[in-house]
Amino acid sequence: MCGIVGYVGHQQVVPVIIEGLRRLEYRGYDSAGIAVVNRDGEMHVRRASGKLRKLEEALMLKPLDGDYGLGHTRWATHGRPTEENAHPHRSSNGRICVVHNGIIENYLELKRDLQTRGHNFQSETDTEVIAHLIEDKLRTEPELRLEGAFRSMLRQVRGIYALVALSADEPDRLITARLGPPIVIGIGEDEYFVASDIPAILPYTRKVFFLGDDEMAVLSRSAGVKVTDIDGNEIHPEVQHINWDPIQAEKSGYKHFMLKEIYEQPRAVRDTTQGRVSLDTGKIYLDTMKIPEEQFLRFTDIKIAACGTAWHAALVAKYLIEELARIPVEVDYSSEFRYRNPILNSTTLMMVISQSGETADSIAALREAKDKGCRTLAICNVQGAMMTREADCTIYTHAGPEIGVASTKAFTSQIVAAYIFALYLAQQRETLDEPMLKWHTRHLSELPVKLEKLLNSETDYEELSRAFVLSTDFLYLGRGINFPIALEGALKLKEISYIHAEGYAAGEMKHGPNALIDSRLPVVVINTLDPEDVKSRLRYEKTLSNIQEVRARDGIVVAIVTEGDLDTRESASYTIEVPPSSELLSPVLSVAPLQLLAYHVAVRRGCDVDQPRNLAKSVTVE
Ligand code: AGP
Repeated sequence: MCGIVGYVGHQQVVPVIIEGLRRLEYRGYDSAGIAVVNRDGEMHVRRASGKLRKLEEALMLKPLDGDYGLGHTRWATHGRPTEENAHPHRSSNGRICVVHNGIIENYLELKRDLQTRGHNFQSETDTEVIAHLIEDKLRTEPELRLEGAFRSMLRQVRGIYALVALSADEPDRLITARLGPPIVIGIGEDEYFVASDIPAILPYTRKVFFLGDDEMAVLSRSAGVKVTDIDGNEIHPEVQHINWDPIQAEKSGYKHFMLKEIYEQPRAVRDTTQGRVSLDTGKIYLDTMKIPEEQFLRFTDIKIAACGTAWHAALVAKYLIEELARIPVEVDYSSEFRYRNPILNSTTLMMVISQSGETADSIAALREAKDKGCRTLAICNVQGAMMTREADCTIYTHAGPEIGVASTKAFTSQIVAAYIFALYLAQQRETLDEPMLKWHTRHLSELPVKLEKLLNSETDYEELSRAFVLSTDFLYLGRGINFPIALEGALKLKEISYIHAEGYAAGEMKHGPNALIDSRLPVVVINTLDPEDVKSRLRYEKTLSNIQEVRARDGIVVAIVTEGDLDTRESASYTIEVPPSSELLSPVLSVAPLQLLAYHVAVRRGCDVDQPRNLAKSVTVE
């Protein structure tokens, strides 16, 4: 999970690459580096351990200029996050350099072989062997030139990679290849970009396409972009027009991307709903649904695979689909799915949920299901990402670029997309009649305004966070459709504040977790109530008992409740109210206070909210 940027064109290369790396820093921030080649064919490299600003400081001290180059911001896999291990890595003669995201599994045997042939290595990384392999090939077969030597290198390495290489002996030319982690290419006016993700390219062009696995591309000012497979057969990928505006990828005055993205949720929900539901007729429209309509009647079961926050969205999707469409749904962590030999067949619909569309485990789960003959559907936030290219069809969330490592607006958009899909299934299988479809679509259309009201309420999360800044453990409880929200609240807190937090089904308290309760343990309980829903009332009553049991043992309770709920207010230590909503849509509202609580606790603890330690935005390695 690293950030790669390459540029060849008419602009000064250093600002383009540094700005691109800044926009990709959420992908990895252990160290950073840049290599540029100037008019005289001299290659210059600057690298620094630590955040990108360290590299910027190095460039201030010793500026560079050049016409083409590449840069990298690292999430260390092999080798400590030191300057020596920072990318770009160079060949022995210093004329070739590469940046890499992924893992070269056979690098040690390649390294030993190269060392016997006189190559001297400067780093502990797997990546460095790539530069030496290319150089070694050119030593013996110079007529291959960079493209041919690069192709030969690809046949020798084993593993996964997003690679970009350049040579000081071949001006204005970049070569890139992908197997696993993403590579996106931008087509400008007499300039070309290569990057790990769209935000790095967005300020310059909206015309992009993702390389596919086992594809490579040569970018040059003279010949433009040529895409081939490893054997050299030309490929003509479809160029997408990205409709994100560059401002969306900026902080727009917020202190952190995460806070901005929390407050963008009403817009994300609205945009994800737009054009897909009719309030007049209750009809659902999914124009990207390329699975034949009659097929929906034949599905006997649904499997959903996802990771992290997306897995929590998958758990909510299970409640939604089983309630509305009456199809059995099984949810797996993607990383577990393929190790349990799942029962899949041609009447199984396999879904993957992913913000990035590039999570390695979820791609692997999708491929496993395809190999077993399943129809496949992705819920994804990034146009053209790997999962959207491999699934039969995609329901896009329209949350815009999500930069903060902690997922927020993508999560609520995933729930909305799953809700719309559940209604679509109910419509195809006639498990809901028109009046009920209208009822659901009306509640869905009211959601953005309710979320807006909630996010602009007077609740003083900053003050509330003061009480918990020194806490060492948290417990989050929920029941029914609120159970996945308890899991999500715990993940938000732990991943940005580094406080241990655990989400639990409220009904399980007597089966063990009650032993944890004491006066130091904050217990966050989600207990909203839809008074029109009998099951909601039952769930509410049982969970209110949980709150009273915790308080009876001197536990601290932070309760998330529906506006006007006085019973819980009397029982809890702290109460946060959310607007009333239907039971099935309540998770979109009840998660927002948990996001804000986690955010303010983390800020008060001085944590790096947008780039938490040891994490990266997109986990493109297994
Ligand atoms: C959630 O806040 C984390 N950033 C992480 O768990 C994330 O949800 C997970 O890695 C899945 O990413 P994806 O949605 O891009 O597949």
